[in-house]
Amino acid sequence: MVDVQAHQDTRGSGIPYPFDIRPLTETGGAEVFGLDLSGPIDDAMRDAILRAFLEFHILVFRDQSLTKDQQAAFSRHFGELEHHVGRLPDGSPYPIVHTVTNLDENGKPTPGAVALGNYFWHTDKSYHDIPSLMTMLHAVELPTKGGDTQFTNTRLAYEALSPQMKARIAGLKAEHSWEASRRNSGAPPATEEQKRERPPVAHPITRTHPDTGEKTIYLGNHVSHVIGLPEDESKALIAELMAHIEQPQFIYTHQWRDGDYVMWDNRCLLHRAARNYEIASERRLLHRTVIIGTKPY
Ligand code: SIN
Repeated sequence: MVDVQAHQDTRGSGIPYPFDIRPLTETGGAEVFGLDLSGPIDDAMRDAILRAFLEFHILVFRDQSLTKDQQAAFSRHFGELEHHVGRLPDGSPYPIVHTVTNLDENGKPTPGAVALGNYFWHTDKSYHDIPSLMTMLHAVELPTKGGDTQFTNTRLAYEALSPQMKARIAGLKAEHSWEASRRNSGAPPATEEQKRERPPVAHPITRTHPDTGEKTIYLGNHVSHVIGLPEDESKALIAELMAHIEQPQFIYTHQWRDGDYVMWDNRCLLHRAARNYEIASERRLLHRTVIIGTKPY
């Protein structure tokens, strides 16, 4: 049985959530208790989760235990699962439920096993013409201290821009690519095959959230430049906007607990992994699924 709490959907439906939900911060995030995501959920429950997702952007389902197959099944309620352009150390593609970890192929904690790009603010797969809607991470093994994931709310960041800056970026597009992402994070360069598979794409810097109509700033580590601006101006504009987005008042830092299953909205958030744990000696392993979204406008 789940508790029906008095928290109301602030987006106008007025329908209470059919689960215990507790907001975490002003920036976003809510904890959800009393649901078991490993079993089937019906359409009404899926819709309620989606309403909460739109309201809070980051949902933290506590006390979960899902196998990879169960995570894939739960994830599919929200859309089509996304494959990854990255390759495992043996050259094979990532499985559809893949691991985010600091463990090498022998299961040993090693800083080099972490995908470097994860440490930089990004929104998933913005180097795709149709980037990700939602990402889900399920904690499997956690360090004793740290290993947080941070989120910054790009809707609030957009709202806080000056009218002059809003006018300046209206209509501007940025180029995003896997190649730029590798370069920006100091990772080994994209291979020729990866560049062919994932050519650069252009997305508006001011993105309209397709479900809420709200405007967000759509940038991050996969960006190479602002289209049509001289290089210096492009760099300076990206740096200014990123410095704005990274301000503490927009950030929620998720401190993982055993059993956490976190789902977030890539259309109005950037995220990154924090380097605040003993990466060379402690184990951190999470299972990840990503849902394909829609073309940004
Ligand atoms: C990610 O960037 O999707 C992973 C974040 C994390 O490892 O905390």
